[in-house]
Amino acid sequence: MKILLTGGAGYIGSHTAVELLNSGHEVIIADNYSNSKPEIIDKIREITGKRIKAYEADCCEYNQMKQLLSNEKIDAVIHFAGYKAVGESVEKPLKYYRNNLDSAITMIELIKEFNITNFVFSSSATVYGDSAPPCDETMNTGCTNPYGWTKYMIEQIVRDVSVAWPEFSGVLLRYFNPIGAHKSGLIGEKNNGIPNNLMPYITKVASGELEKLSVFGCDYPTPDGTGVRDYIHVVDLAKGHVKAIEYAADNKGAEVINLGTGRGYSVLEIIKAFEKVNEININYKIVERRPGDIAEMCADARKAKRVLDWEAKESLEDMCKDSWRWEQNC
Ligand code: UD1
Repeated sequence: MKILLTGGAGYIGSHTAVELLNSGHEVIIADNYSNSKPEIIDKIREITGKRIKAYEADCCEYNQMKQLLSNEKIDAVIHFAGYKAVGESVEKPLKYYRNNLDSAITMIELIKEFNITNFVFSSSATVYGDSAPPCDETMNTGCTNPYGWTKYMIEQIVRDVSVAWPEFSGVLLRYFNPIGAHKSGLIGEKNNGIPNNLMPYITKVASGELEKLSVFGCDYPTPDGTGVRDYIHVVDLAKGHVKAIEYAADNKGAEVINLGTGRGYSVLEIIKAFEKVNEININYKIVERRPGDIAEMCADARKAKRVLDWEAKESLEDMCKDSWRWEQNC
């Protein structure tokens, strides 16, 4: 298939491009590089040795995207493009609603116009709110920030479109906590400024760029009192997209699928695993809980196994090793 990745130069998009190319698909990237760099495209070429075409284009710009779709005969679209900083979304909600909803609606309007029936959307486990883990796809409790609400709303738009357009197939992938990087060390998560998420913060403490990790809370109702999350290697996540787009090609309707491992790790377990596998001491201190955080989040990953024949393979050790390799290269 010839697959368009919107936001394909980003963290998850670039890893997905590699896995699609390695599976024999053709990849076209559309990215406005608002939170990524054009150099990523060369890295994807370097890793795969395959041809890849990239357009500098904004999914909110109907005419730009229409031109792209007129130039290329696209079979399927994976829509990654969107803002993703939770904290910023609380401060600038309209920026998030405007951009994330507009880009998704524009893309869905266009795929309808061009009769492209296969669509995969990057959603997030954030739509489970503070549901009790493990979360399966039938739970849906709402969100705690505007970023999450944009995911929730776009999921609903895709479901509504699938009712009105019977030929359409939309897969809504709910990601848990992606970490790690490609084993080549050529692509990974790029952070501007001080990271908010745990693993990028740990790697910056390991490199000496940041002095100390703050562990947010040690009094949660979890085995060691620190927050538990379902961390998934970004390459496993990328492989889930290959399965999802192939599934979309053979099915109709909207389908929600978790991409997680089904296993949670606490903050202290992550620190210990990172220290052990990379032989580096991580300086940390326990501080107050971070507002808005929940105790535990973990996927029920059985639907992905049943429907997509996909499951996460990489270990926590690999996630820690690959995150650190990337930090040293980037
Ligand atoms: C957050 C977002 C989620 C997003 C995900 C990306 C919220 C509510 N959710 O999830 O929508 O998809 O990032 O991976 O913001 N921690 C520390 N110290 C730090 C950073 C984090 O102790 O400096 C702890 C947190 O308290 C939490 C765990 O590490 O227990 C994971 O935090 P983080 O990586 O920020 O991800 P989430 O908050 O789970």
